[in-house]
Amino acid sequence: MFERENEIVAGTFNPGEEELELSLRPQRLSQYIGQNKVKEVLNIFIESAKMRGQPLDHVLLSGPPGLGKTTLANIISNEMGVNMRVTSGPAIERAGDLAAILTNLNENDVLFIDEIHRLHKSVEEVMYPALEDFALDIIIGKGPSARSIRLDLPKFTLIGATTRSGMLASPLRDRFGVMCNLDFYEPEDLKEIVLRSAKILDVEIDEKGAEEIAKRSRGTPRIANRLLKRVRDYAIVKGQGKIDYDTANKALKMLEIDEIGLDKLDRRILNTIIDYYNGGPVGLDTLAASIGEEKGTIEDVYEPYLLQIGYLNRTPRGRVVSELGYKHVNKIKKKEQISILEGQL
Ligand code: ADE
Repeated sequence: MFERENEIVAGTFNPGEEELELSLRPQRLSQYIGQNKVKEVLNIFIESAKMRGQPLDHVLLSGPPGLGKTTLANIISNEMGVNMRVTSGPAIERAGDLAAILTNLNENDVLFIDEIHRLHKSVEEVMYPALEDFALDIIIGKGPSARSIRLDLPKFTLIGATTRSGMLASPLRDRFGVMCNLDFYEPEDLKEIVLRSAKILDVEIDEKGAEEIAKRSRGTPRIANRLLKRVRDYAIVKGQGKIDYDTANKALKMLEIDEIGLDKLDRRILNTIIDYYNGGPVGLDTLAASIGEEKGTIEDVYEPYLLQIGYLNRTPRGRVVSELGYKHVNKIKKKEQISILEGQL
């Protein structure tokens, strides 16, 4: 019953949409908007690796979904002039799967592993010598006659992406030479991204229209691009196909995205904590069950932005709605609740 509600924020791709999404992705560092610190750091390390004629050190990209981790990995391999092999933590089920991937890489290639925090333990152990010495240790035989042989691998760069760098085992984390944390984007950067995407999609848009979409994209380029496409649809049907402040505002209202970009599920999270748990604290499992949403979706997709804008706080005993959060859903926090909750923060 909740399936379609959150498709702008958390949604999967519709047929054909993925291709379009790919065409919006910048291919070079110079086309990538925002995340200036990350770009500066990566540019230096890429240039140095190229000058030394060696592969780039292993890179860990962390941050909430939709901020451009896969895009950056793609850019890194383009800038290095090498191929990128893409897989994900849960997709590599056995050590043998990883061995097959690693032995098929070419010298200096990039191996991109999304959701690297979900790598199986047995696979992780094969990864350590591969990352450190570009070697695979293979056990041949069983019991007392078992012996280990070492297989040389091509030198490669691992790019790991994770929404939760805290969940990475420390021996794995320690093997990354470059760590980049992506933050939510500033509205000015998102506006530039919307204008760039509109040009690629051949959509007419003015400054105020782009600003409005940017303001309501929860600091996330993937959401900005999705909203742009939905506002374009609205503009085609209800207007002359041109996006200005008025069409953007009306289209976003129709999509039930409020003036700061929160959707129905964001508001349901705030309202549920307030109405059923007195503003919190409430544990994530209980909250997920009350809302009828996956725990992982709340934790990875919804919560980070609500925490970032200060509408939600995390305490050792669970999630708490702040005064700002109350105000946003037009509710008032009672005085005695404030003093109880302050004691818990
Ligand atoms: N499209 C998605 N993310 C982008 C970014 N950071 N810069 C430019 N275009 C983008």
